[in-house]
Amino acid sequence: MYHSLWLFLRLVSTAQFVLGAAVFNWPDPLLDTLEDQLYLPGISASSELALDCLARDGSTVAAQWLRLAYHDMANHNSTTGTGGMDASILFEFTRPQDIGVGMFESLSDFAFSSNEYVGLADSIAMGAINAVIDCGGPVIPFRGGRIDATVAGPATVPEPQQDLASHIASFKAQGFNQTEMIMLVACGHSLGGVRKVDFPLIVTENVPTGIQTFALTVGFDNTLVHEYLNSTTENVLVVGSNITTRSDLRIFSSDNNVTMQRLASSTTFNTVCADLIGRMIDTVPSSVTLTDVIEPFNYKVTKTFLFPQNGSLTFLASLRIISSRNARTPTITMFWKERTGSFCPPKGCSVGTSDDTVADSSFLAQLKGVPFFDLFSFNASIDLKTSISHFWFEANDNDGSTPFVVDNNGANYTIHQDVVLYDPLRSDTSNPFSVLVVGVKGPGSNPSVTALTTLSGSDIPFTTSKTSVFTLDPSLPPADGYTFYSSSISHIGQLISSNTIHATINGTAYSRWVPSLDIG
Ligand code: HEM
Ligand SMILES: *[C@@H]1O[C@H](CO)[C@@H](O)[C@H](O)[C@H]1NC(C)=O
Ligand SMILES: *[C@@H]1O[C@H](CO)[C@@H](O)[C@H](O)[C@H]1NC(C)=O
Ligand SMILES: *[C@@H]1O[C@H](CO)[C@@H](O)[C@H](O)[C@H]1NC(C)=O
Ligand SMILES: *[C@@H]1O[C@H](CO)[C@@H](O)[C@H](O)[C@H]1NC(C)=O
Ligand SMILES: *[C@@H]1O[C@H](CO)[C@@H](O)[C@H](O)[C@H]1NC(C)=O
Ligand SMILES: *[C@@H]1O[C@H](CO)[C@@H](O)[C@H](O)[C@H]1NC(C)=O
Ligand SMILES: *[C@@H]1O[C@H](CO)[C@@H](O)[C@H](O)[C@H]1NC(C)=O
Ligand SMILES: *[C@@H]1O[C@H](CO)[C@@H](O)[C@H](O)[C@H]1NC(C)=O
Ligand SMILES: *[C@@H]1O[C@H](CO)[C@@H](O)[C@H](O)[C@H]1NC(C)=O
Repeated sequence: MYHSLWLFLRLVSTAQFVLGAAVFNWPDPLLDTLEDQLYLPGISASSELALDCLARDGSTVAAQWLRLAYHDMANHNSTTGTGGMDASILFEFTRPQDIGVGMFESLSDFAFSSNEYVGLADSIAMGAINAVIDCGGPVIPFRGGRIDATVAGPATVPEPQQDLASHIASFKAQGFNQTEMIMLVACGHSLGGVRKVDFPLIVTENVPTGIQTFALTVGFDNTLVHEYLNSTTENVLVVGSNITTRSDLRIFSSDNNVTMQRLASSTTFNTVCADLIGRMIDTVPSSVTLTDVIEPFNYKVTKTFLFPQNGSLTFLASLRIISSRNARTPTITMFWKERTGSFCPPKGCSVGTSDDTVADSSFLAQLKGVPFFDLFSFNASIDLKTSISHFWFEANDNDGSTPFVVDNNGANYTIHQDVVLYDPLRSDTSNPFSVLVVGVKGPGSNPSVTALTTLSGSDIPFTTSKTSVFTLDPSLPPADGYTFYSSSISHIGQLISSNTIHATINGTAYSRWVPSLDIG
């Protein structure tokens, strides 16, 4: 029961808000997607599959994810600023130095996580963070924005038969000095072990599970350090019969065990591992700039849809709030301003919530003190002529305190245009054939409407994109001042992960990111 014990310990000590964290100004597809993946369960595989240090292939899902992340990073060259966490492992995992069924299995765990804005490399990095916490280890901060490589990198993953000088040189190229090498290897080899089927010359004795683990405990802790120091270790990279492949022994003892002795303190071990695994996943090509650390957003606008429906514009939106643990649910009102004219009262038109539900948070969110989220939905009927230009919210805690305004950090939630709208009700998104419908304002003077659709599937390269062209749809007569265009997309064995609609109307270009096609 790693889960609840660590949860209890962490809730007591973790501050919820971190200085210098990434600020979410809606809309921001990259931060939006990554924050969902980090803090909502089930949004991407990485928040769920390794929970409770789940066993797989004689090892654990977490061990496989952590090794995957290291091998992906290991072709960083700090001299040239190339390689690092860039998902190049997708083109490398069949190399002998990356041997093991866990590599492809782990990559497949993340196959459905990418969209137009977020790549596989961010999922691999997130996987390393989840791997560590899911086995009881420390929380590591996450930054996003890694860029996926399109080709393999150099074959520079260290191997057990190489000598100490080669390992020091490899880690130096990756950006870690000798002390840091000792620590990073000790942190990594806290989980999992060496499989006989892949390394028969290293695991020479019979092991019933097919794997000789690095430590007697399954979880992320410094047992391997203690077992090393008191000579009870069964780590085959320390005590294996083949002296050539005792790489952990050579590395761990390379400074007369000084660093290993430091790691005998579990507090030091956790601090050091959080720092170094954090540096490992933030090792990216020098051309890449990562975001600030992404903490759970206090307020997040999601599921916005604007479309003509029976004589008005329907505007749907949800506001996600970090639930306060004292269980008092605030009353939230959504306000908006018209795009033209003065239809709304001076304070703005307004509507109360149409629905109010609780959304589960991920294990990582729980460790950060977020037990769950409150999700408030709004369904506004907007005057067709005056339309909508921006919206905001007022939250009343009903405890006598002044209501506070949620307005996108002062910038309002702006709706940049109402000329090109995605229409969720006229669309049909049943698998594996979807028909997407876009409403274009006006009589339809032969506009050019396309969509860039990102599709995910389990075949490498997992994520592909497709540009589809929309044509006038005679089955959808013009209504409410809009003309309707549709495009059918076949996606057998693939899921639609996001869409951006692009249109040029009377020479003006419009685009609209549609993260989710269904209002549900
Ligand atoms: C000189 C450096 C290193 C060498 C020679 C090395 C070698 C190995 C070998 C031979 C295995 C067995 C793989 C298998 O049978 O599937 C292994 C497993 C593993 N390594 Fe390393 N490693 C090194 C550094 C690291 C680092 C820096 C990390 C992460 C921070 C790491 C994380 C892991 C993990 C988590 C496993 C267990 C995988 C599983 O059980 O599925 N290793 N390593
Ligand atoms: C890093 O790049 C430099 C310059 O191209 C090269 O000399 C060096 O061998 C590379 N290091 C590794 C570990 O590949
Ligand atoms: C590695 O870097 C750390 C931090 O800068 C330093 O304390 C340590 O002495 C260095 N180790 C070596 C072997 O240079
Ligand atoms: C060695 O360390 C391990 C892990 O802390 C511990 O379980 C074991 O009892 C120790 N053995 C001896 C002989 O000290
Ligand atoms: C020890 O490992 C090395 C490197 O894998 C290998 O070349 C050698 O044959 C092994 N020795 C024995 C006795 O298995
Ligand atoms: C380091 O520790 C290991 C394991 O206890 C021991 O075998 C080795 O002799 C030590 N090396 C040094 C240089 O202290
Ligand atoms: C559409 O609006 C008209 C009046 O504006 C109303 O009578 C009718 O019931 C509405 N139909 C639907 C399906 O909401
Ligand atoms: C929004 O409200 C309209 C009018 O009351 C209703 O017809 C429609 O079903 C509602 N939509 C959703 C998604 O609740
Ligand atoms: C936000 O909306 C309010 C109300 O319409 C308006 O007074 C304010 O100027 C807007 N702020 C910005 C930055 O657009
Ligand atoms: C595009 O031009 C046509 C013809 O002048 C006009 O009727 C239509 O309203 C315009 N559409 C938009 C969105 O500006």
